[in-house]
Amino acid sequence: MTFLVTGARGQVGRAVARALLDEGRPVRVASSGPQSALPGLTAQTVPFDQRDPAVLAAALDGVRGVFLYARPEGIDTFTRVARDAGVEHVVLLSSLAVLAQGAQDSTIARSHRAVEEALTSSGLATTLVRPGAFASNTLQWSEAIRATRRVDLAYPDAHTEPVHERDMAEVSVRALLDPAHRGTVPHLTGPESLTQARQVELIAEAIGSPVTVREVSPEEYRERLAAHLPGPVADAVLRGQAARVGHPGPTYDGVREVLGRPAADFAQWALDHADDFR
Ligand SMILES: NC(=O)c1ccc[n+]([C@@H]2O[C@H](COP(=O)([O-])OP(=O)(O)OC[C@H]3O[C@@H](n4cnc5c(N)ncnc54)[C@H](OP(=O)(O)O)[C@@H]3O)[C@@H](O)[C@H]2O)c1
Repeated sequence: MTFLVTGARGQVGRAVARALLDEGRPVRVASSGPQSALPGLTAQTVPFDQRDPAVLAAALDGVRGVFLYARPEGIDTFTRVARDAGVEHVVLLSSLAVLAQGAQDSTIARSHRAVEEALTSSGLATTLVRPGAFASNTLQWSEAIRATRRVDLAYPDAHTEPVHERDMAEVSVRALLDPAHRGTVPHLTGPESLTQARQVELIAEAIGSPVTVREVSPEEYRERLAAHLPGPVADAVLRGQAARVGHPGPTYDGVREVLGRPAADFAQWALDHADDFR
């Protein structure tokens, strides 16, 4: 049974592909980007564009299980072509954002909800993996930490419950391999709620060198975000952070429920990624 892993340039997609390859499973990796941008994976690579039935049919030929990033554009084409190709099961990388207060007004939550609904009404078996904030979001600080040992933040006291990409990948792979997880909706966070300032401290401990935090205005911070993200997404990120100042969030036990072991904490994630920040 061949597995198709989409979003293969992403942190989670890459980890899913690696974990399946480590298990000796036949894997095809798909990316919307150039095939040359997929280093280190000894798998067949294919282009991926959900809006293009011919590209989809080629990517899905002979595939029974798919790890899918949540992109609303073309999702109905995807479900139709997947059914025609004989795909049995889709593990979706969704988001806990769909549960947040005011989710109906959030671009991020609405797009994930739309993809969840398209899949669950398609007749394909699904597993909706809903993670909270990725620990790997802090890689956006890596350049500044490497260059200046300083991070500029608008909301240093904003909390998240960062989850390791390896945990998301292992849960997704378990779901792809074990039919008992079809129809389930695992909720994944790290084991603790941490402020951004504390996350910087743990990165500093991992690299063995002090890192300072400078508080900047939300306007200045937004300008930087908007250089990498679409405007509405930058606004949503900033609003999300402001709402979490002084508000530790709940943690979820999905990693333990699926894998029978605790989720990795952020100190471990920082050690695993220390070289990115040195
Ligand atoms: N970040 C979070 O805290 C968080 C939390 C919950 C849910 N999510 C959801 O998880 C999904 C992925 O989140 P993410 O982007 O933060 O993590 P990621 O796993 O690193 O994914 C990056 C995504 O961007 C695409 N991409 C386009 N250009 C890229 C480039 N130059 N390098 C690497 N990837 C590139 C990749 O797909 P291609 O290879 O196909 O282009 C991949 O889908 C999104 O649907 C997001 O809403 C994220």
